Amino acid sequence: RNIILRETWDKAETLAELNNLICDCHNCQLGDTRKNFVFGTGNPDADLVVIGEAPGADEDEQGAPFVGRAGQLLTKILESVNFSRDEVFICNIIKCRPPANRRPLVPEVDACEPYLKKQIELIKPKFILALGLTAVDTLLKKKHAMASTRGQLMDYHGIQMLVTYHPAALLRNPEWKRSVWEDVKYLRKLYDEYQATKKA
Ligand code: URA
Repeated sequence: RNIILRETWDKAETLAELNNLICDCHNCQLGDTRKNFVFGTGNPDADLVVIGEAPGADEDEQGAPFVGRAGQLLTKILESVNFSRDEVFICNIIKCRPPANRRPLVPEVDACEPYLKKQIELIKPKFILALGLTAVDTLLKKKHAMASTRGQLMDYHGIQMLVTYHPAALLRNPEWKRSVWEDVKYLRKLYDEYQATKKA
């Protein structure tokens, strides 16, 4: 097993460098079954980082996040409020596909979360959009209920975070689309206000 110690990647100064240093990771069992390590894609200087749960079959195949059916819906949701995939950074809580798309296990999250934290440290986003309860529960280390969590401005180590339904949940429950649209409209408003202060 190729165990990667923190000291080998902790000093990475760019996302590309970090990806190179960790993409052969076998610190959890998912390293044995994945086809591709899915680091994340988008703008290394993004003001918005979008965080899902874990790669699925299409993402594992292509090595990129949110490229399957849920991903296409995510692209549309972002575009509905004029975010392009190139302008934001998109990644997941864990970087390798769990077999049969099961939920990530605690040891898998524990092994992988330091990579996400380092990504966020390098990108320094102003906003995080967390997709689904797995994302927010993992980031904030407690259980949430979607109904009382979505649409609320949360804090993740000084970064403003919004939570909304995961696009895979929307494929099963299209009636939640309106809520998601409201959530991303609110995010867009906060993002625009922030861009205005950057220019001023
Ligand atoms: N679902 C996720 O949470 N992430 C992906 O990358 C694809 C589907």
